[in-house]
Amino acid sequence: MFDKEKAFQTARKWIKEIGHVIREEIDQPRNVDTKTNPNDLVTEMDRKVERFFALKIRNAYPNDKILSEEGFGDHVTSLEGTTWIIDPIDGTMNFIHQKRNFAISLAIYHEKQGEIGFVYDVMADVLYAAKRGEGAYKNDQRLATLDDEKKFTESIYMLNTIWTTDNDIVDAEKIRALVKDVRGVRTYGSAALEFCYLAEGIVDGYVSFKLHPWDVAAGAVIYKEVGGVVKHADGSELSYLKQEPLVAGHKEIVAETLKHYLVLT
Ligand code: IPD
Ligand code: CA
Ligand code: CA
Repeated sequence: MFDKEKAFQTARKWIKEIGHVIREEIDQPRNVDTKTNPNDLVTEMDRKVERFFALKIRNAYPNDKILSEEGFGDHVTSLEGTTWIIDPIDGTMNFIHQKRNFAISLAIYHEKQGEIGFVYDVMADVLYAAKRGEGAYKNDQRLATLDDEKKFTESIYMLNTIWTTDNDIVDAEKIRALVKDVRGVRTYGSAALEFCYLAEGIVDGYVSFKLHPWDVAAGAVIYKEVGGVVKHADGSELSYLKQEPLVAGHKEIVAETLKHYLVLT
């Protein structure tokens, strides 16, 4: 049986425990490796954190699946049963270069539903957390439901500026138009934190085109709890099983984005 409250408390304890280790070791020299390209970075800390969660989960929840970035998880092809979706460090580039603005992202999906989401801003010691149907929290503060009047032209939008340059996924011309039409654009370098900033209501819209399930699974649970909308860039639901282009934001901002700016190539 899926005991949501127990899983929530257990995961919370583990996140705090390993977060403390990361803070203690933040100034140690790093071994940085590259993965798919010279800017796709991974460190021994990414692996250490993921290994920590994998060992804990396999011991306490041997029947559950793990979908994660650094190789300690399973080959997951469906979200039936219980699946832990984990990014040990989201924002590795920030972790290496800035030593802040990165997060642990951990979600628990049960029978295809996102039930629990945690995004831990490790250096700030801020834990965003949500259980489906029970609201979203920033530490002890409950996040307010989004005010649903938000004009596209007055919105602050998050996107990686790379998408304004020619690419194989989306029409860059349309993205440049979006940049001109909104009030301002921000990039924070951690998709998980970006979802939490949406949930806090300090930014209003977000597009990204190559995110993996572990980048977004926890943030989506948190954001949906305050009334945020998360969609595949073609307007359908995300599968949370593979790399997918997405749009997130206030209801009207997502609708406007889908209608005028997202032309997948
Ligand atoms: C990255 C961050 C970043 C996003 C990249 C992701 P990582 O995750 O979420 O904000 O733009 O696409 O890969 O590699 O640091 O875990
Ligand atoms: Ca990530
Ligand atoms: Ca990562």
